Amino acid sequence: MSGAGRAPVRFEKVSRHFGNVVALDGFDLAVAAGEFVTLLGPSGSGKTTALNILAGFDRATAGEVFIGERPVGALPPEKRNVGMVFQSFALFPHMSVFDNVAFPLRMRRIAGQEIAGRVAKALEMVRLGGYGDRRPAALSGGQRQRVALARAVVAEPPVLLMDESLSALDLKLREDLQEEIRRLHRQLGTTVIFVTHDQGEALTLSDRIALMNRGRICQFDTPTALYDRPVSRFVADFIGRTNIVPVDAAGHAAALGLSPDAATVRAVSLRPEKLRRALHAGDLTFEAVVEDVAFHGATVESRLRVPTGFVLRMSEARSGPLPPPFPGETTRVGFAAGDAVALYD
Ligand SMILES: Nc1ncnc2c1ncn2[C@@H]1O[C@H](COP(=O)(O)OP(=O)(O)OP(=O)(O)O)[C@@H](O)[C@H]1O
Ligand SMILES: [Mg+2]
Repeated sequence: MSGAGRAPVRFEKVSRHFGNVVALDGFDLAVAAGEFVTLLGPSGSGKTTALNILAGFDRATAGEVFIGERPVGALPPEKRNVGMVFQSFALFPHMSVFDNVAFPLRMRRIAGQEIAGRVAKALEMVRLGGYGDRRPAALSGGQRQRVALARAVVAEPPVLLMDESLSALDLKLREDLQEEIRRLHRQLGTTVIFVTHDQGEALTLSDRIALMNRGRICQFDTPTALYDRPVSRFVADFIGRTNIVPVDAAGHAAALGLSPDAATVRAVSLRPEKLRRALHAGDLTFEAVVEDVAFHGATVESRLRVPTGFVLRMSEARSGPLPPPFPGETTRVGFAAGDAVALYD
């Protein structure tokens, strides 16, 4: 399959109301052709609603969606040329794997000769060559999801949508399929919009992530920018783990050696892995009592209490220069000033 088919996608001020519920609220998103974008957000933030409106399974209350330069809001799903993989496998149980994958091609009235070749190719691509005669019931969960993936890409749609496609699978299988999806994306060059509420999955797979909350985008950025430069408390807290240190009269931030502009900065985000006992030159430092130490395999996680009473989490590599701290110990902890991110909300 070639990478010829790819299209940009755009949501323009899309709103979707269900009675009093505002599922999407002036949702704006521009995805470049061939880009892998993930919609990430808590349950109920509007991710599925956005995909359904793009795929044509639902209609916006206001606003418009574009595939290429074409407004598609009035087109039925089958005219939008979008491949979709749902959370539940949604294979036709009475059909063989071959017939499941062939379905979109038959819908497009493609000749039988060509269908055989394209189905075989799609099944090869998801490493299920030779499984064409099986029924879905005779496959594992991961294999079924691979068939769904093959069915979604067999017609080479310029846009591929995936809604929580891996959520039902166990961790190991999930990681395998994540790799598979990355490979497929590279190979096909298709524009992908992927939905998940698993931030690890989003960080691994995406060119950019649109972090959603209450029907809106809070931040649309590369995984590293989202992680390193969150624009709000919600983003800092949702992506990875962090310590949110309030900037208020209690003086917690000052106790860490920070001096944010108290007139505008409401809190400071400090990632646990940015804190260290092995100090670097120029670090801001503070004294803390180690309250608890937990072994996590590659890292050791400690709870630190500073003199103002504020409790921080610290994550140190186990292969680091110092032996793990012990509970009750008083220790000096440092971090680079540049790793403290000011939050204004
Ligand atoms: N058909 C519907 N009727 C009424 N409310 C709906 C309908 N579909 C979605 N909603 C509401 O719209 C909001 C957004 O739902 P949506 O399914 O888009 O969330 P989501 O981000 O996909 O969540 P999840 O991670 O749980 O799948 C929710 O409050 C939901 O209850
Ligand atoms: Mg959903």
